[in-house]
Amino acid sequence: MGMFRIRGGRKLEGSIRVIGSKNAILPILAAVILTRKPVVLYEFPSLADVENMLLILQSIGCRIKRDNSTLFIDPSSIDSWVIPDRYVKEIRSSIVMLGAVLARMKKAKITYPGGCEIGQRPINLHLQGLRQLGVIINESYGYLDCEAANMVGADIHLDYPSVGATENVMLAATRARGRTVIRNAAKEPEIVDLQNFINSMGGRVAGAGSNTIVIEGVESFDETEYTVIPDRIVAGSYLVAAAITGSEIVVENVIVEHIQSIITKLRETGCMIVPQGEGPVSSVRIKAPRRLWAVEHTKTYPYPGFPTDMQALFMSALTVAKGTSIITENIFENRFKHVPELIRMGANIRTEGKIAVVQGVPILKGAGVTAGDLRGGAALVMAGLKAEGETWIDNIRHIERGYDKLDECLRSIGADIERIEQ
Ligand code: EPZ
Repeated sequence: MGMFRIRGGRKLEGSIRVIGSKNAILPILAAVILTRKPVVLYEFPSLADVENMLLILQSIGCRIKRDNSTLFIDPSSIDSWVIPDRYVKEIRSSIVMLGAVLARMKKAKITYPGGCEIGQRPINLHLQGLRQLGVIINESYGYLDCEAANMVGADIHLDYPSVGATENVMLAATRARGRTVIRNAAKEPEIVDLQNFINSMGGRVAGAGSNTIVIEGVESFDETEYTVIPDRIVAGSYLVAAAITGSEIVVENVIVEHIQSIITKLRETGCMIVPQGEGPVSSVRIKAPRRLWAVEHTKTYPYPGFPTDMQALFMSALTVAKGTSIITENIFENRFKHVPELIRMGANIRTEGKIAVVQGVPILKGAGVTAGDLRGGAALVMAGLKAEGETWIDNIRHIERGYDKLDECLRSIGADIERIEQ
């Protein structure tokens, strides 16, 4: 079990590069099995969740080689349609394998992914959409036994723009006969990346990024090479590290359009943020004020609204802002696990249901705290960078699901942080 030890109060400086997106590569790794031809993926992040997904691919027959941040995958000999329980229980986002396995094998067996630290994470919208494609799903003894011998394109309306449900239906629909339309689809950049990846193999998907996606079923797919988009939440996390410590840094390998809502909110705290470079992938310079201003109200929404995955991180910055800030978490029902830990560090936060009221305090004090989930744990790291004295964070396996060597990355811009193996 690892811990982070952080000595706070240091200014950050220099530049830091963002890794490939965890939430883009996970559905793309599922999509790899749509083809029988070789696939090369660039910029793949080395994260616990990604490692688990690679184990799932290998368990059903994929051959995988890796060279630093490049993956070489041979999906020619997939010989199983059963997703091993142990991996599904490890990462619930493996549920997105369901749509891909159905498209490739015409059947699938997977255990119910269940809830996690931030909520129950139901999959009713996934199953509803797949059933509309003609998938026969028997739910018994905690398993989903699925038959998809004759999938036919359908006009599917999602009650809620669920990211995972949109991805699962997209993946299955690539091999359904005819046209599928997904209405009220999720618009996240990771959905666009999945569309572009599928099309790079000869798929016919259009409309991702809007609330209506159209998928034409195809008979087979080609080989492809693909570079995954940068991780917008990791980019936002580094911007928060600069904001909370009153620093000036450059964050590299960013698609500015993907983090507009984060930039807007950080500017409201008094940070000066200037995109640099012309292309779609560029850098962002941030210069934070000595003390941040409070932000009257922040509400989490589906993209392009302020992302739920940034809620804990932004809250950590607001704990030391001048004034009172309100945060409303609209997406997940249990995403304030970081609050009692921030209070142990001297923060002044009250929660009532999905609303948190943050009274800014001038200083935070280092303390022993526990990461309760991925982004809540990252928020504690940011608070530790600011706090006087030492902060010890345990349960950092949660954090390492979504951040690749976070201690090394933050040390490279001047933070005093060390990973200690217990
Ligand atoms: C994805 O989760 C991300 N995970 C999450 O990131 C992210 O927080 C979330 O989208 C929202 O942006 C990955 O991409 C691997 P949803 P997902 O389906 O697909 C309800 C992180 O930190 N819902 O859009 O599970 C659900 O309960 C993770 O990297 C149903 O009710 O998100 C939740 O309240 C955490 N029925 C809301 O929708 C369903 O069938 C959003 O869920 C599906 C979802």
